[in-house]
Amino acid sequence: MSNKMNNKVANELVEHQVWDKPVRVFHWVNVVLITALMFVGLIMLFKSELGISGLAAKIKLKELHTIIGYMFAVNLIIRLVWGVVGTGFAKFSTMRPKISDVTAYRHRLSKGENPQYIGHNPIGKFAVVAIMTLLVVIMTTGLMRAGTDIYYPPFAGVVTRYIAADNVDPTTIKAYDDTGVNLDKKASMKPYKSLAGDIHLYSVYLLMLLILLHIIGVVLAEVRHQPGIISAMFSGKKRIAGRCEDSTD
Ligand code: HEM
Repeated sequence: MSNKMNNKVANELVEHQVWDKPVRVFHWVNVVLITALMFVGLIMLFKSELGISGLAAKIKLKELHTIIGYMFAVNLIIRLVWGVVGTGFAKFSTMRPKISDVTAYRHRLSKGENPQYIGHNPIGKFAVVAIMTLLVVIMTTGLMRAGTDIYYPPFAGVVTRYIAADNVDPTTIKAYDDTGVNLDKKASMKPYKSLAGDIHLYSVYLLMLLILLHIIGVVLAEVRHQPGIISAMFSGKKRIAGRCEDSTD
């Protein structure tokens, strides 16, 4: 109904459906899980400073982080699938970032115009694609690290089969315990394990920066250009006066 109004220049506010339920649920579940992962991750990083010592506590923290990580991964995978098979502004095809669109958008803003968008504005598209890419990198390296460090699925099987000494049942191998482990093979895995750990951690730092920029960008856009974009992530709807630049029709 509302998209038919897109090309009409009208001054009354028209309500547009933008974020469907799967998108909104993903967004807020993702916020909660990233906060929890960051919280446990920071405890892991600063455990000595926090007075946490002992191998058992160290492993428990990693297990807790990994279990929350699985929820994060499931939520992200559902969103990735929905971005392909879903409809309307949930689709990734509506979020393709283009430098030329950003240039044109900034030019129009500098002329005093205020283009309105049902979906993301051209700068927002860059933020969303960058954040989504980082989430996939963090998920993949987190799962790799879980497999190589505490022998958790989905890579535990392949890792323990590789490092098990001859005639040792791989399922008996335990985290931070070299019983039954072929130490040469374990050492040969170390560079990949370290690389996954480094990429995981630096991607997390970059994500924190992008989340900060995302929040600043959304608040500035809400205050200066398009009121109602924050509440749209709760209600799913945006109320826009006049012409909209985008439509999924
Ligand atoms: C946005 C989501 C995530 C954030 C913010 C995050 C944050 C962190 C942080 C800060 C650390 C500490 C780094 C270190 O001790 O070297 C860490 C380590 C770790 N993360 Fe994540 N993480 C996320 C997602 C995941 C996922 C999805 C998994 C896997 C299911 C995962 C598994 C791990 C593991 C196993 C470690 C331990 C690395 C080690 O010390 O050996 N993480 N994460």
